[in-house]
Amino acid sequence: MTASPTSTPARRLHVITHGCQMNVYDSGRMADVLAPLGYAPTAIPEEADMVILNTCHIRDRAAEKVFSELGKLRVMKQAREARGERMILAVAGCVAQAEGAEIVARAPFVDIVLGPQTYHRLPEMVARAARAGGAVIETDFPAEQKFDFLPEAAAPQGVTAFLTVQEGCDKFCSFCVVPYTRGAEASRPEAAIVAEARRLAAQGTREITLLGQNVNAWHGAGADGRPATLGRLIRAIATIPGIIRIRYTTSHPRDMDDALIAAHAEIPALMPFLHLPVQSGSDRMLATMNRRHTAAEYLATIARLREARPDVALSSDFIVGHPGETEADFEATLDLVRAVGFAQAFSFKYSARPGTPAAGAGQQVPEEVKDRRLHELQALLRAQTARFNAGCVGLDIPVLVTHRGRHPGQIVGRAPWLQPVHLLGATDLIGSEIRVRILEAHTNSLAATQIEERACA
Ligand code: 5AD
Ligand code: SF4
Repeated sequence: MTASPTSTPARRLHVITHGCQMNVYDSGRMADVLAPLGYAPTAIPEEADMVILNTCHIRDRAAEKVFSELGKLRVMKQAREARGERMILAVAGCVAQAEGAEIVARAPFVDIVLGPQTYHRLPEMVARAARAGGAVIETDFPAEQKFDFLPEAAAPQGVTAFLTVQEGCDKFCSFCVVPYTRGAEASRPEAAIVAEARRLAAQGTREITLLGQNVNAWHGAGADGRPATLGRLIRAIATIPGIIRIRYTTSHPRDMDDALIAAHAEIPALMPFLHLPVQSGSDRMLATMNRRHTAAEYLATIARLREARPDVALSSDFIVGHPGETEADFEATLDLVRAVGFAQAFSFKYSARPGTPAAGAGQQVPEEVKDRRLHELQALLRAQTARFNAGCVGLDIPVLVTHRGRHPGQIVGRAPWLQPVHLLGATDLIGSEIRVRILEAHTNSLAATQIEERACA
């Protein structure tokens, strides 16, 4: 095909995404803002005119991993230059935000360094990088809201989709970089969110996961001008034709308000699965971590949720070996895990993030102690996940079919509690919710058979 003289030149964009679902969403939006400049996605970095490395800073050795990946990209960039072609190399995300100057100093071949609040300025940065010799750095927290400037999401996301409703965090947990890299808490207006949800529904999305670093702190003025919180936003999204499942992540225990818990009782589309990080079961550690709640308050929230929605399953995040954590503190974490019974969980060894209060604290826990505690906690959590999944065998449940499986005739869907479910079925079921019987539980998935001819929604 010959390009007409007025068309934008075809360019190829390769995006590498690390870290959380927020980064996955942001990578999609960066691709969207670059599409009008003629950038189309490619899976092959060597042939890309632009590569974006979207980084995560939350845990250990994040910056070192970025530098080692940049080393590989440099080789590709040089190979293109040897052929007389260019590769614009951009580092985005939280490592860019936290260590922008270091990246430019140690990796001078990087063209653009941009923090998460500046993605809407990407086209301008690309134009400047194309002209400039040195790197373009944008890691300010600009006065304008990036949400107001990003285009409507262009590419359909699929049967399940993420929708960012909130960004940033004002909680300042002792160990966490997010308040420094993502900035202050900011909520998108309800009308913009509902409009995006409608567009997703029109493109075939059936399940929406509302995203935010502190998603249940979302607040905004509702259509009637009255203040609204996440419970009400979920109600609004549940009325959109085509949207049959809603989830939200990640939440803070302090922000589980009455309206949100009531939503779990009253809105069938709100899935009975909640990721609610607790980090520790020791009140002493929770105070040191500046978590602003106790273990008893966390357990009381879980009890209220279970009363509202008896089939709700819980997930959480844990940190072992935060500075000052004693054996008794760690035992309190194990007690909390036993008391709740999690369907799944993520657990991490504490690792110091420069600039956070815990990084400079005394009483750092020796590495071998952290290793042992992590091992013990993970064994307990793994056993709980296995028990939860085994408890699903024999159940008749709705599954939202999302894609083809790897084997002939196989389709894959999602259980209400987020496990992937494998079964035999026609691919025209993709996008429908069907009833299945769970036959087997595996470590991270379930096997099922369809028990009704057609979709149930
Ligand atoms: N060390 C270890 N784990 C951390 N997390 C956040 N910061 C750190 C850190 N410095 C974990 C928390 C959080 C999850 C996303 O990552 O458990 O909930
Ligand atoms: Fe980080 Fe979550 Fe604490 Fe905010 S609430 S500082 S994002 S761990």
